[in-house]
Parts: sequence; structure tokens; C-alpha cells
Amino acid sequence: MPALVLLGAQWGDEGKGKATDLLGGSVDYVVRYQGGNNAGHTVVVGDQKYALHLLPSGILSPGCTPVIGNGVVVDPSVLFSELSGLNERGVDTSKLLISGNAHIITPYNVTVDKVTERFLGKRKIGTTGRGIGPTYADKINRVGIRVQDLYDESILTQKVEAALDVKNQMLTKLYNRRAIATGQVVEELLAYADKLAPYVADTVLLLNQALDDDKVVLFEGGQGTLLDIDHGTYPFVTSSNPTAGGACTGAGVGPTKISRVIGILKAYTTRVGAGPFPTELFDEDGEALRRIGGERGVTTGRDRRCGWFDAVIARYATRVNGLTDFFLTKLDVLTGWEQIPVCVAYEIDGKRVEELPYSQTDFHHAKPVYETLPGWNEDITKAKSFSDLPKNAQAYVKALEEMSGAPISAIGVGPGRDETIEINSFL
Ligand code: GDP
Ligand code: IMO
Ligand code: MG
Repeated sequence: MPALVLLGAQWGDEGKGKATDLLGGSVDYVVRYQGGNNAGHTVVVGDQKYALHLLPSGILSPGCTPVIGNGVVVDPSVLFSELSGLNERGVDTSKLLISGNAHIITPYNVTVDKVTERFLGKRKIGTTGRGIGPTYADKINRVGIRVQDLYDESILTQKVEAALDVKNQMLTKLYNRRAIATGQVVEELLAYADKLAPYVADTVLLLNQALDDDKVVLFEGGQGTLLDIDHGTYPFVTSSNPTAGGACTGAGVGPTKISRVIGILKAYTTRVGAGPFPTELFDEDGEALRRIGGERGVTTGRDRRCGWFDAVIARYATRVNGLTDFFLTKLDVLTGWEQIPVCVAYEIDGKRVEELPYSQTDFHHAKPVYETLPGWNEDITKAKSFSDLPKNAQAYVKALEEMSGAPISAIGVGPGRDETIEINSFL
């Protein structure tokens, strides 16, 4: 009954897509459990590069069944354009399963996301503008539209009407926009119903049966721990639970079934969008990390903010997710620095603090306390085992492991599937 959760330990973009794809060949199911097409997971297979937003990265492994769980929010237009893009490249997507309980990102939720951000001005979150927040808000407000609603026109019409009731007041009176007509939205959504039907399934039943049959299930997180609505740097977060518990609610699998929780951890730190980031660099080192690491958003094309590794965050990720392992990515990007600073604690109002403060004010005031580790110059992209790494790179990994509180079981030394050092097997 091996069920593994693979999630981001920082602010997203840690390399979850690559890690999922690497394991995809050995697992039976890969399940997205939260988020939607705000994610951008890059997978490099041979000389082919794929950018996945909504689909689980397991879709690229022929033996694996990709599943979109109940906790995900689905934009049908994005779904079908992503599917046809893969089909054109010869990828078979026919095994995909989508929960009938997943919520739909409607066109009005994309509009609300954009106008809300504009209205917030300087206080904006810097969302991806994909309608994620408003769709989860509708879910919690109990005016959401679910995949299953597409199969009952009368119910769908009532639900869209209910959802638009308040939104149209807001759009016309507050944001000076035109009202959205129920009929138009219903028509647009119904047009997806037949195309979507072959994929819709009771994914909760199916995944639990698969686990009972000793199949291997991998839950692939979107975003990251610090973007979690409960455990992240609220309000500068996404509107779902990327943390380990989210896999249970977002897929309908009990916590007792989860055997391993793997945190994907970049060898330095990046963040997209607004919000505090203690180790952020505004100098040429930050610029170099961005350039060498190719730190540009896959979804929005925005430059990612870059900074040194933050062990306080890694420790926090270990704690809130119950991490059993880390997969350290992009170690190769750090090649060439003479000295590499690592944040081991914060200084907040003159006091040294070892753990992430729960107070937003304190976190905004946190200044990194650095320890400096010696760097290396040797090319590490061909390393196949830990002992192939230069001594200083080995010491860097060991130091991070010690500070972060869970074993580093794999190391990424390049974007390709095979550019990985496996230390402990995940399966
Ligand atoms: P995700 O959102 O967590 O899946 O990560 P992204 O795909 O947004 O960003 C990670 C980027 O780093 C992608 O371009 C990957 O191809 C790339 N990548 C992943 N692992 C490694 C690695 O170990 N080394 C290098 N150089 N690139 C990597
Ligand atoms: P992957 O899966 C990095 C950020 C946005 C914004 C905040 C809220 O590729 O790691 P949203 O549109 O979700 O309401 O935006 O969350 N964000 C991400 N940052 N990687 C992601 O996904 C992200 N998905 C959302 O930039 O700050
Ligand atoms: Mg990404």
C-alpha cells in the first residue's frame, strides 16, 4: 500500500515536475490533489521539454494513470488545450481521470481574480490571474460549480445564477465592469460536458481500491509549503493546501495510508509574486542565480525572486509536512561560487530566532543569519553517485541535511530525468 506525497518545501518551483516524472515510471497513479493551472511544472525527457500546468506530471509515463483529484480546481479550456498540445506531440492522454467533485474555474472567476488584483493596487498578491482564489472562495462559500454539475443543466443554471448574483453586483457597482449573463456561462460550460465525460470518475473509490490492491500511488503537490493557505506566509499565499494534509483531503485518502512524504527542496530559494522573503538578494548574486538557474516563471513568464538557501524554512517544511525525505534540486546551479551563504536562523528585533515565527509582523522583520560554506568549481552535472560530487559539494549537501531535519535521498544536478543522484530509494 505505498502512497507517497511529493510536495514543494519552499515557495514553489522547486522542481516537483522533474521529481514526479522521475518516479512516474515506477508508480501506478500520479494524483494532483490541490491547486490548478497556477502550477507550472517543467519536465525534460531526453531532448523534449514539457510545461505542465494542470495535468499531473505522471501523464508523461505510459504505464501510469494520471488523476485530477477532488481538491483541484479545473479550467476546462486549459485542460483541453493542454491535452491537445500533448496529443500533438504523441503523448497518450487517454488514461486521465478527473474527480466529479473537482471544482470548475469558470470564466467569471478568472475575471474576478484579475479585477481584484487590479483593485488591490500596491497591496496585490501577485496571483497568476488564473481564477484560483475566487474559485476556492466559491467552494468555501458553497456557490462553486463542480465537474458533475455539467451533467444536469437545470442544477448548473441554478448554481451559476447563485454564483453570479453577488458577483454581478460587485462587478458592476464596485469595479465598473459589465454584468455577466448566466445563460452565456451555462452554454460555455455545457459545451465541455461531452468531451469531459470519458475522464470523469469516482477517483476516491478508485484510489482507495488501488491502495488496497497494493498499487503505488504518488500524490504530486502544486505550489509549496510557504504558499499554503494555512501554513504559508498568509496573505501572500495561494488558496489551497499544498502541504501533506492536503493530499488526504484533496484525494480522499486517509492519513494512515500515506507511507512517505518527500519535500522537494531547491539548493537555494526562489519566490514569484509578492510577500516576505528573508534571504532575497538584490545584488549580482541574485542576478546570477536567476540567470544560471533559468528562474523565470513557467506559467506567467515573470522573473523569479532569488536568494540563498534558508534552513529555517526547510525545518518548518519538515515539521508541518512530517517529511520523511528531501529531494534536493538544482545543486548544479551553485557551481562556481567561492563561498555559499546559508541562512541558519533569523535575527528579529535584535534577537536570534531558530524557528519560523508564527507572527506575520515578525516574519516581515526577519533578517537572515548566515553561515558561509565553501563552494566548488567542478562540473557536477555528470555525477551519478554522491561520491562523484566534489568534497565541498558533499559537505554542502550534508550541512543542509543536518540543518533541515530529514535525510536528503536524491540530488538533482541538471533538469533531465537522468541528471539525478539517488541516495535512498523512494519505492
Ligand atoms: P515545479 O513547479 O516545482 O515543477 O518547478 P518548475 O518546473 O517551475 O521549475 C524548476 C525548473 O528547474 C525547471 O525548469 C526544471 O527543468 C529545472 N530543474 C529541475 N531540477 C533541476 C536540477 O536539478 N538542476 C537544474 N539545473 N535544473 C533543474
Ligand atoms: P508551481 O506548482 C510559484 C504564487 C503566485 C502568487 C500566489 C497566489 O509551479 O510550484 P494564485 O494564482 O495561486 O492565487 O497566486 O502564489 N504561485 C506560485 N508560485 N510556483 C507556483 O506553482 C505557484 N502557483 C501560485 O505567484 O504569489
Ligand atoms: Mg513551477
